[in-house]
Amino acid sequence: MIRIQNLNKTYKSTQALINVNFQVNKGELFAFLGPNGAGKTTTIRILTGLSKLDSGLVMLNGFNLEHPGIESRRQCGLVPQSINLDRELSVIENLNIHCRLFRMTKEQSASRIDELLDYVEMSDRKKTLVKNLSGGMKRRLMIARALLHSPAILFLDEPTVGLDAAMRRKIWALIRKIQQHETTIFLTTHYIEEAQFLAGRVAFIDNGAIVVVDTPESLMKQKGTWALDRLKEDDMETLFFNDRNQANDYIAAHKDSFTLRRVNLEDSFLALTGKKIQ
Ligand SMILES: Nc1ncnc2c1ncn2[C@@H]1O[C@H](COP(=O)(O)OP(=O)(O)O)[C@@H](O)[C@H]1O
Ligand SMILES: [Mg+2]
Repeated sequence: MIRIQNLNKTYKSTQALINVNFQVNKGELFAFLGPNGAGKTTTIRILTGLSKLDSGLVMLNGFNLEHPGIESRRQCGLVPQSINLDRELSVIENLNIHCRLFRMTKEQSASRIDELLDYVEMSDRKKTLVKNLSGGMKRRLMIARALLHSPAILFLDEPTVGLDAAMRRKIWALIRKIQQHETTIFLTTHYIEEAQFLAGRVAFIDNGAIVVVDTPESLMKQKGTWALDRLKEDDMETLFFNDRNQANDYIAAHKDSFTLRRVNLEDSFLALTGKKIQ
């Protein structure tokens, strides 16, 4: 479905992607997790035909993206990082523009718009101007828009950035629902929980390079199951245990104040890169 080999991309003085290799299978939910500036958006821009690659092989559903064209773009639905809806137009007008871009007929457009507004629970907002929608609704509308032409792969660039916890969960449920309809999903995030909760497999990306690709479970297991945070003078120290009783024994034997929690992907990222994501 997506195959990337030795991909490189440089902007003037910044090497944004360095020898990137990975593969995404059909129907998979694959996440790119990394800090700001890691190269996540650059990867999505190349995959969706918006930026040119410098070198390497990028295959998307059989299309070679050295020369992206309308047919390769048709395979992709993109929800960009920043909101790019037309604020002065209504919900339905925004969706209609997209349908026209993809040369859908009036009948096709009307039924697909109804179907997708229902899907993202916004059927009652057809006539609302985008500038009057909440942040969460704008995101959901962008997701609906990206799905209008029934793409094989949906790209979500930081889909919940700036949203509160409740809306974030609602978007997660929507992403899960989309995947159940057999759409392949490629998402980027700098939220640990998002990758941990949604991704079948996750790639850690740091400074333009892939650090590791694996399932969240397997990445977390490498550290143990339980993490014990201890506040040191000006920093946090974390100890790892496979067994909860061992962790509790450790707490009982020491006077410090501890927080016991499950190991998460941040622990794995820190172990592999020496830095935190956020
Ligand atoms: N258009 C651009 N011109 C110059 N540098 C860029 C441009 N876009 C991104 N970069 C740089 O490339 C690196 C990767 O950026 P980006 O892919 O946006 O990272 P992320 O999405 O992970 O935050 C960063 O160092 C960023 O400053
Ligand atoms: Mg980005």
